[in-house]
Amino acid sequence: MGAGSQRIVDDGFIVLDGVEKVFDVRRRTGFMKRERRRVRAVDGLSFTVGRGEMVGYIGPNGAGKSTTVKMLTGILTPSGGRLRVAGIDPSRERTRLAHRIGVVFGQRTTLWWDLPLIDSYRLAHRMYRIPDARYRENLDRCVALLGLGALLDVPVRQLSLGQRMRGDIAAALLHDPEVLYLDEPTIGLDVVSKAKVREFLRELNAERGTTVLLTTHDLQDIEQLCSRVMVIDHGRLVYDGPVAGLHEAGESERTLVVDLERELPPIDAPAPARVVRVEGPRQWLAFPASQPAAGLVARIAAAYPLVDLSVREPDIETVIARMYEDRTSA
Ligand SMILES: Nc1ncnc2c1ncn2[C@@H]1O[C@H](COP(=O)(O)OP(=O)(O)OP(=O)(O)O)[C@@H](O)[C@H]1O
Ligand SMILES: [Mg+2]
Repeated sequence: MGAGSQRIVDDGFIVLDGVEKVFDVRRRTGFMKRERRRVRAVDGLSFTVGRGEMVGYIGPNGAGKSTTVKMLTGILTPSGGRLRVAGIDPSRERTRLAHRIGVVFGQRTTLWWDLPLIDSYRLAHRMYRIPDARYRENLDRCVALLGLGALLDVPVRQLSLGQRMRGDIAAALLHDPEVLYLDEPTIGLDVVSKAKVREFLRELNAERGTTVLLTTHDLQDIEQLCSRVMVIDHGRLVYDGPVAGLHEAGESERTLVVDLERELPPIDAPAPARVVRVEGPRQWLAFPASQPAAGLVARIAAAYPLVDLSVREPDIETVIARMYEDRTSA
């Protein structure tokens, strides 16, 4: 193959054009009986991500997100369509691509379980043939920004989930990848760890221009990090646009949970906010996610004896479910 002959000239850094992935699943249904089933995990997916973009990639369970990420790394070969990352066909040139991408699967570590954290980094140093000075610099930077200093000599299996995740993110970045795929990097993390990871990703994208594709079930990850979000459902792209637009498309609502001093009739809230549930002195009010909570809180605080209140964000599943309701009822 001639150098560069396979390369396509394209604006996109990540380009998918009608990509499909079909799994043949065989299932035992009885003695000598097997059922064959085809699962269309990704079904004609097309999108483009430009260099330096940080894009959210969300959707319900089984939507095809991880399958997409696996195809983008070359772990899985598409059943159809065309896919390029940095001009490279991932499944055909997986090793060459590996030097240019980083990947973090939140559900599975790439670190060596029984070895101290630093050993996994030393292995990456050799495996990717990272120049010594570069390795040092990147390691120092990750250690400082991700707070790994005290953890380097700890065996990975002794790390907490949040510590391990930060360790995994560092491992994915030691070789200066141009693109980072993150598949649920904040799953199971507490608020402090989530904030640390988000801050780190924001800086990475802003300062290094690293292209980031972020898969998550936490809508706040997306809201705090991405200006663009893609929603996938049943292997198809159902939304691609700004995060705010997602809320509009799904007409999503947040919930204000109010604890009153005593049981009272439903709060008389200014429309479109309304009480959706009452349980003793606690009441739940739904209001549009696009509207700030402050005004509503002030109105209620002025008129009712409050003990406590909190705002609940809509989850991704609810937002997407509402997108569908709207579409089918339109
Ligand atoms: N190796 C496989 N063999 C057979 N079916 C698979 C395989 N991997 C994924 N699937 C199926 O493909 C579909 C998409 O799975 P995928 O893991 O991509 O979803 P996801 O969007 O990442 O979901 P989650 O939010 O639960 O992580 C599912 O129906 C899943 O069961
Ligand atoms: Mg997944």
